[in-house]
Amino acid sequence: MTTPTTPRTVLVTGGNRGIGYAIAAEFVAQGHRVAVTARSGKGPEGTLTVIADVTDSASIDAAFSEVENELGPVEVVVANAGITKDTLLLRMSEDDFTSVVDTNLTGSFRVVKRASKGMLKARFGRIVLISSVVGLYGSPGQVNYSASKSALVGFARSITRELGARGITANIVAPGFIETDMTAELPEEQQAEYKKSIPAGRYGSAAEVAKAVAWLASDDAAYISGAVIPVDGGLGMGH
Ligand SMILES: NC(=O)c1ccc[n+]([C@@H]2O[C@H](COP(=O)([O-])OP(=O)(O)OC[C@H]3O[C@@H](n4cnc5c(N)ncnc54)[C@H](OP(=O)(O)O)[C@@H]3O)[C@@H](O)[C@H]2O)c1
Repeated sequence: MTTPTTPRTVLVTGGNRGIGYAIAAEFVAQGHRVAVTARSGKGPEGTLTVIADVTDSASIDAAFSEVENELGPVEVVVANAGITKDTLLLRMSEDDFTSVVDTNLTGSFRVVKRASKGMLKARFGRIVLISSVVGLYGSPGQVNYSASKSALVGFARSITRELGARGITANIVAPGFIETDMTAELPEEQQAEYKKSIPAGRYGSAAEVAKAVAWLASDDAAYISGAVIPVDGGLGMGH
């Protein structure tokens, strides 16, 4: 039986829409104190919204200070904010590459580094990084995106080795195709083609990703660290 988990202070980046919004809503439903970062808009009801851009360390620092003042030290951080700039390798500019890495990978670094200070002090922390099935599966037109997402695996595993003895876990959630603005941009024929390759025969929902994230942050997952948890209907099996 699942035991009720200890209420925690949670920060989710990019919690104003898509998967981040669903993750924040799930944490609220489970009784946690939840803040989201947003560049625009707001998190779900019951959350504290703080303005931050993950490409800007100063704004991340200010957002954490605001959350700490309002809700207490951040015990669970979910690095979710991410972008795509898809194009084939030969057409991919250096800026297409570095801007995606700067948001998805270096952005996660900025957020997790800032979160780790309080976690070390508390000798408790749950770090969840939102990667993608594409990180380990690969995808044409996504050299920048898949590189940024696979790098998160080494990132989480190094944190696990560095901070694992201090009560801190770091895990990866790797969603497959999830119904959000990001996948809605894909042409319909391409969406249908993708569905054929997913063993579950459908896209996932943001709520299904949120359940896995909340579980990794729960008391029940204290001994799980450095893991890659797929939420992809079987698409990425074997990687
Ligand atoms: N959808 C999928 O099928 C899928 C699959 C695998 C992995 N993922 C990953 O899941 C995460 C969420 O994706 P999603 O589908 O929910 O995407 P989305 O609907 O496009 O939302 C992206 C979120 O990231 C935020 N963001 C982007 N750049 C940012 C920045 N520089 N600073 C702060 N926030 C920033 C956005 O804020 P604004 O509203 O201000 O732009 C938004 O809240 C991403 O890391 C994505 O790579 C998604």
